[in-house]
Amino acid sequence: MTRLASLGLSGSGSSARNLPTNVRLDPSRTGREAEALDSNLRRLVIGQDEAIDQIVNIYQMQQTGLNPPGRPVGNFLFLGPTGTGKTRIVEAMAESLVGSPRAVVKIDCAEFQHSHEIAKLIGSPPGYLGHRETHPLLSQETINQHHTDRVKLSFILFDEIEKASDSLWNLLLGILDKATLTLGDNRKVDFSRAMIFMTSNLGASEMSSLLQPKLGFGLRRTDAVNPDALDEKTTEKISRSGVEAARKKFTPEFMNRLDKVVVFQPLGEKHPRPTARSFSSVRTRPRNSCFRKGSTPSTAPGT
Ligand SMILES: Nc1ncnc2c1ncn2[C@@H]1O[C@H](COP(=O)(O)OP(=O)(O)OP(=O)(O)O)[C@@H](O)[C@H]1O
Ligand SMILES: [Mg+2]
Repeated sequence: MTRLASLGLSGSGSSARNLPTNVRLDPSRTGREAEALDSNLRRLVIGQDEAIDQIVNIYQMQQTGLNPPGRPVGNFLFLGPTGTGKTRIVEAMAESLVGSPRAVVKIDCAEFQHSHEIAKLIGSPPGYLGHRETHPLLSQETINQHHTDRVKLSFILFDEIEKASDSLWNLLLGILDKATLTLGDNRKVDFSRAMIFMTSNLGASEMSSLLQPKLGFGLRRTDAVNPDALDEKTTEKISRSGVEAARKKFTPEFMNRLDKVVVFQPLGEKHPRPTARSFSSVRTRPRNSCFRKGSTPSTAPGT
């Protein structure tokens, strides 16, 4: 069974991992840490239970030693409209586990189109101009720099992967499959203690047309489906259109390397706003918050 095949439509349901049978569980590590992560994520991230469940599941598997060796701890694809918490949830995980939302290594795929830009990620080969000066963003030291005595996990976020160039794409496929990256100077970087998150707004327009089915002349405000009134069927349709858009755009080779595909749902007025306490441990003020008074959460600009 491929990794994606076990995802179900929206990545929900049973675990996507082909679990090794010869690994012994360490029950002493399953409970409290995963529970703490779960409650921290629920405090910091509003209304994305599906994503939280999937993240906690994979974290729990890593804690018990069940994740397959030679692979990243988890490969996630997050789809959904802008400003729904795709980036926030990764920062919240880092904050909860290693104490800082800044522990996330963020790669905006749109910025790495040309080979000289890829060198910012992997460094230039020896002999090339700037070989000594460039410190690759994806070196082992950089990705491990926020490891703590207790938590040896790295959080790598590839934003807007649909904009990745071919060379970045190849590099990404190698990381997702073998947890390995070869730097410009041939050193290997091991991603087997990394969680890889990829985001895309693919399918977002189809999702909004499900919420606002009657576009063009004659559109009345009341025609739009209020995100608060989303029933299970509409949520399912939104998830389906996200996954379909991803399947059309990305190769099976890529989709099969994913553990979880999660479609982030539009947020509505009924979702509780984060309280001051929710953000008390976040040092920086959230940029472009979709919870500013007067703004509509599902349409607020993201990061
Ligand atoms: N579900 C949520 N829970 C808590 N805060 C949220 C949520 N969604 C958005 N926010 C707030 O809005 C800001 C922008 O959200 P975020 O950057 O996570 O959006 P995004 O889904 O990554 O969007 P984009 O696709 O544009 O990157 C966050 O910093 C956070 O303050
Ligand atoms: Mg984002």
